[in-house]
Amino acid sequence: MLNFKEEIAKLLDVRVTGMSADEIRETVEIPQDSRMGDYAFPCFKLAKALRKAPPLIALDIAKSLGAEGLFERVEAVNAYVNMFLKKSVLTAAVLSAAIAEGERFGGADIGAGRKVIVEFSSPNIAKPFHIGHIRSTVIGNAVNNIYAFLGYDTVRVNHLGDYGTQFGKMIVAYRRWGDRAEVELRPIRSLLAYYTKFHEEAEKDAGLEDEARRAFARLERGEKEERELWQWFRDESLKEFNRVYAMLGISFDSLAGESFYSDKMDRVLDMLKEKGLLKESDGARIVDLSAFDMPPALITKKDGSTLYITRDIAAAIYRKEQYGFHKNLYIVASQQNLHFKQWFKIIELLGLGWADECVHIPFGLVSLDDGTMSTRAGRVVFLEDVLNRAIEKTREIVIEKNVNTDNADETARQVGVGAVIFQELSNNRIKDYVFSWDKILNFEGETGPYVQYSHARASSVLRKDDTARNAALSGADALDFSYIACESAYELTKLIYRFPDAVLEAGEKYEPSIVTRHIVDVAQAFNKFYHDEHILTDDETERKAKLALVFAAKQTLGNGLRLLGMAAPERM
Ligand code: ARG
Repeated sequence: MLNFKEEIAKLLDVRVTGMSADEIRETVEIPQDSRMGDYAFPCFKLAKALRKAPPLIALDIAKSLGAEGLFERVEAVNAYVNMFLKKSVLTAAVLSAAIAEGERFGGADIGAGRKVIVEFSSPNIAKPFHIGHIRSTVIGNAVNNIYAFLGYDTVRVNHLGDYGTQFGKMIVAYRRWGDRAEVELRPIRSLLAYYTKFHEEAEKDAGLEDEARRAFARLERGEKEERELWQWFRDESLKEFNRVYAMLGISFDSLAGESFYSDKMDRVLDMLKEKGLLKESDGARIVDLSAFDMPPALITKKDGSTLYITRDIAAAIYRKEQYGFHKNLYIVASQQNLHFKQWFKIIELLGLGWADECVHIPFGLVSLDDGTMSTRAGRVVFLEDVLNRAIEKTREIVIEKNVNTDNADETARQVGVGAVIFQELSNNRIKDYVFSWDKILNFEGETGPYVQYSHARASSVLRKDDTARNAALSGADALDFSYIACESAYELTKLIYRFPDAVLEAGEKYEPSIVTRHIVDVAQAFNKFYHDEHILTDDETERKAKLALVFAAKQTLGNGLRLLGMAAPERM
């Protein structure tokens, strides 16, 4: 698609002295208020070089730019040059791109030939997959989709927490109080109950902790009995996680979790030793990070067992060798900021040369508006229950509102799950937020159902006149843009034009909420257009032009929803 900012920067470059082409491009802005033009160029920075007052410079530039065919008019207002594009030029660019690119509209190929690891979700096995995990899962999936849309070759990794001393405790607890049938029926709930009981009992009986340590040591050595139990816990837990992933429509390329690296530890220890980074401390081995104002990183415990951080270092080295990544992304809660800072520093100290290709993408906490979200047993809210409740509540609304659908169950699933995902991706990821039932299922607010509904509405208009739609989609050149030059149509067109930039910025900032907010704006502009304008008029030329715009809006909403990991229903 024609890049107008780029075009304008070029036109300015031949008229402006004292600023580099790059500087000019960075200075061109999009005014908040569209009455100030589609683009504006502030002249303050030129005053010094030209020894002239900025408003006078603006006047000169405006006069000369006004003759260019790109613009309807160019005005000088104080120190600003305000540029109004010829509507038909912008509309033609937007519609032909949306029609030609379809499901790829908004994407790019800047990532071609580059691999990006997106590590997300990474729950701990045998622990509940609770509402807190939704953040990494949903944000990570959206980041993955955005990178793939930008042309990167992404690898979705679920770094399962399937290793560590807690499995010793779980094994001991299961042997004492466990029941096979119960585990098979409700794996995570029962394993969690045994685990909780272990902690209660361990307060009375100190021997239990020792027993657990021994069980884990046996597991690490690969003793058959412990190994089999662990494998079974893992399989059963995964079955439960997979149910949630299926509901969310999420899959992974790799489930190499912490246990996968258990045999790759010695190499890490050797590398650390070779660089003289490993220090003895009380029988344990650490990397001293005091020179970087950080507490030491514990690499092995007294008994020689390795830790979470050791496995993270091994995993990064493995990924670099296995995939040759361009970037290695970690979507993990901000509580782990220090952990990532520590081990990124260790990778740097190892001198491997790719430490800054590793990026921690943190996010804030989620809590529920009824106050439940405590990790203490019993008060945990399972994500599966949240999704099911969202689907159930949506089904009630779908029936009550008599929503136009031939499959109420499927619509309730798409909209209910979508609502949860959308709320998750509505705010800057780093912000803490409160999960609110009232807010997410509102069909009128800035919500998932609202955007999906707008998409379905656009689809429904397009279905009403196949002939005109097909004619419109056979090419933008033959369309008469004067029918879509009114304010509501043009505002919508401009927002569609900016969609590819929103995707790009979301990728650069690892911030899916930029896409979320943008498609809310597109949905609102579409609904205003739909409300203000009669679309299926008797005049065929008019109908065609309007349907082409409806198509571009639908495509933008659909592509945006899919990037976020949501369904884009045709009927609602
Ligand atoms: N399993 C960890 C947890 O639930 C998150 C793992 C994050 N990823 C990583 N590479 N450290 O807290």
